[in-house]
Amino acid sequence: MTEASPAKLVAVIPGDGIGPEVVAQAARLLEFYRDERGFPLELWPLDLGADRYLRDGVAFPPDVRDRIAGEASAVLLGALGDPRVPGLEHARDILFGLRFGLDLYANVRPVRALADRLVPLKGRSAADVDLVVFRENTEGSYVGIGGQFKRGTRDEVAIGQDVNTRKGVERIVRAAFEWATVHGKKRVHMVDKSNAMRHAHELWYRVFFEVAGAYPGIEARHVYVDAMCLYLVEDPSQFEVVVTCNLFGDIVTDLGAALQGGLGMAASANVHPHVARCCDEAHGGARVGMFEPVHGSAPPLAGKDVANPLACALTVGMMLAHLGWPEEERRIEQLVKQAVAERQCTRDVGGELGTRAVGDFLVRELGHAF
Ligand code: NAD
Ligand code: IPM
Ligand code: MN
Repeated sequence: MTEASPAKLVAVIPGDGIGPEVVAQAARLLEFYRDERGFPLELWPLDLGADRYLRDGVAFPPDVRDRIAGEASAVLLGALGDPRVPGLEHARDILFGLRFGLDLYANVRPVRALADRLVPLKGRSAADVDLVVFRENTEGSYVGIGGQFKRGTRDEVAIGQDVNTRKGVERIVRAAFEWATVHGKKRVHMVDKSNAMRHAHELWYRVFFEVAGAYPGIEARHVYVDAMCLYLVEDPSQFEVVVTCNLFGDIVTDLGAALQGGLGMAASANVHPHVARCCDEAHGGARVGMFEPVHGSAPPLAGKDVANPLACALTVGMMLAHLGWPEEERRIEQLVKQAVAERQCTRDVGGELGTRAVGDFLVRELGHAF
């Protein structure tokens, strides 16, 4: 690294429950890169989450959002959700404030098993579990458009809209095909429920095959989400790249996490890729991305030093690739593989270490990995 490179600002939001515990270990990797390897990184710790919300009513202040949008290169987020805030309003403000507010339309969730023994399917190995889900991240059932009428009465009505735009569908489908092209993948599956949700998802069906026409070397396949759940368990090896809407992407990636060894192993990136020939080319330059493990705040595990920090470590790998250091993503994945292979991991993945001790292992081995 040259002294002259301007530091890349990384906002760090530990959040709630096990979030601070896993982020503490993942942040040690970033500190190692900064302090021992001279990577131009500046960490910006942010006190946001349930504690802050309960203390002073602040969830996601506009000045913080503006600085992230204007100056940060990445955000590392632990998880949000605390039983003391039963409506989870702070969690939605922060999480959706980042995903929607920064227009991070692609939630990229690799479903990759890093050891044979982590795959719970009979007769299957890690080689069978290697796919990437492109989850639409800015619309669908998550837009919060709707309302309640006659709330609390027997005549109560609750409506939540599923919003799908041409632009929104097209850009995530293109992002999936572009990723498949760059990574030499042969097949993209689109997952919807167009047989039942015929207005909203017919758009997905039509746009998917239209976009697929521009990628003749890649096979385009459609699968309904119910069948997808079946096929993922029966034979995950048939999937390479999967593109789907916000809600189905959320659900299918928890199922995917189970194939990887649990939520403690599943990483994700929320990004705004620039895709060729897309209708959305208004923004120039690399944009901020938000990186978070797929798991939540797991309140029953919080404060016990038992949460698996490997998902968060893999998430830091995805962040480093986004920041321009893809070889570091591979290095971190290797380290995580090693931790699992040598049982230097938490109980959920067959080890006996605590969260912090796994972090000790990762930082020590990272020091030997160059
Ligand atoms: P969860 O992901 O917190 O937990 C589901 C299961 O996975 C639990 O059995 C938990 O013990 C296990 N698990 C999760 N992470 C683990 C880890 N790192 N190591 C070992 N085991 C782990 O999901 P939930 O219980 O449905 O939700 C708890 C809270 O988290 C809710 O408030 C939910 O809304 C929130 N949540 C937040 C995010 C986020 O901020 N990105 C994601 C998912 C859920
Ligand atoms: C996730 C979570 C969130 C989602 C919740 C906390 C709103 O489950 O990131 O997977 O549904 O997107
Ligand atoms: Mn989820």
